[in-house]
Amino acid sequence: MFTKRFERRIYIAVTVALSSGLLGFSFFLYAMWPANIVTGYEPDQPINFSHKLHAGEMKISCVYCHSNVEKGAHATIPPISTCMNCHSQVHPNNRSGQPSEEINLLKKHWEEKTPIQWEKVNDVADFVYFNHSRHISSGVTCNECHGPIETMTVVRRQNSLKMGWCLDCHNTPKKQEVVTGHKSENMTSKDTEHLPKGHVATLPEGHPIVTKSTRAPINCSACHR
Ligand code: HEC
Ligand code: HEC
Ligand code: HEC
Ligand code: HEC
Ligand code: HEC
Repeated sequence: MFTKRFERRIYIAVTVALSSGLLGFSFFLYAMWPANIVTGYEPDQPINFSHKLHAGEMKISCVYCHSNVEKGAHATIPPISTCMNCHSQVHPNNRSGQPSEEINLLKKHWEEKTPIQWEKVNDVADFVYFNHSRHISSGVTCNECHGPIETMTVVRRQNSLKMGWCLDCHNTPKKQEVVTGHKSENMTSKDTEHLPKGHVATLPEGHPIVTKSTRAPINCSACHR
């Protein structure tokens, strides 16, 4: 039907199309895979800074140290001057009254003006656009993404930060009960305390949970700009 040369071209075109389709599809699978390989990453840090002590027991606010988190893309790691607000004056010793090597190390960095090389724990690839501030202002909490940081002596990566993880949340519509004034079994009093008295009715059994779509985008260009 066709000339030999043209047939050969068809074979090549079909082979290329099939294999590149397969390649594309495996890329897609790879991107969507709920990769847990990096979850739990917990590198040693140059100074044993404990969130359990500072954010948990002492209840220092996250934003006191990660001061850019509500304003910009990056939460930022605090400069040594933030630590020295406290450590320049008090606590040359640790709790048992012994001189603290860790705090001496901190002071050495301060005096010599050498930055501390903290190991990065959470990192998304450069081709992904991620911005903290929009998440914080729409009410997503630090713990939803980072886990119970205030209980960690060493920071651990709680979630994969892979595409599937982002989309899981972006695809989950928020419950609307609070907006409509209905109360369902799994709501706490904190969710409903701002509602006017008598306005909160328990949903009858089998009542479908009303949902609304969130503004969280799922189009490719929102995250891959
Ligand atoms: C609001 C005050 C405050 C700030 C800010 C602060 N710390 Fe602390 N830090 C403390 C207190 C209080 C202790 C407990 C000291 C003790 O054991 O009695 C402590 C303990 C420590 C210890 C443990 C010392 C040991 O050997 O047990 C380290 C290390 C430390 N801080 C590092 C830092 C670093 C690094 C920063 C900055 C990122 C920082 N701290 C910021 C108040 C502060
Ligand atoms: C006293 C200062 C201080 C406070 C308060 C604090 N942090 Fe941190 N945070 C640090 C420092 C210093 C690091 C870098 C060293 C480390 O990873 O432990 C860090 C690291 C982190 C990281 C990992 C950063 C990375 O590389 O991915 C996360 C996530 C984090 N903090 C979240 C929080 C949350 C959530 C809170 C509140 C519950 C909080 N922090 C309170 C000082 C603070
Ligand atoms: C919607 C999920 C999400 C929420 C909510 C969130 N984070 Fe993050 N955080 C991330 C991701 C993703 C990264 C990695 C960002 C990157 O590599 O550019 C990150 C990185 C960080 C880092 C490392 C430094 C940086 O900015 O890259 C710190 C510190 C941090 N977050 C603290 C916080 C604190 C404190 C809060 C709450 C006030 C918070 N995060 C809320 C997802 C989140
Ligand atoms: C726990 C839920 C949750 C997770 C996890 C999450 N997001 Fe979001 N994201 C939201 C919500 C809610 C909004 C809507 C914010 C608004 O506009 O009110 C949003 C909005 C966005 C936006 C649009 C607003 C802006 O900043 O331009 C981008 C982009 C985005 N997310 C990227 C990401 C990426 C990338 C990840 C994963 C690394 C991620 N998100 C993980 C809940 C989440
Ligand atoms: C909510 C944010 C978000 C949206 C929307 C999104 N992606 Fe991604 N994408 C990511 C993140 C996060 C990664 C993982 C980066 C990493 O591995 O550090 C990623 C990775 C990828 C990769 C590389 C594979 C890999 O795992 O490294 C491809 C290809 C990709 N995305 C394509 C798409 C396409 C096509 C769409 C639209 C159908 C899309 N993405 C929508 C956040 C998003």
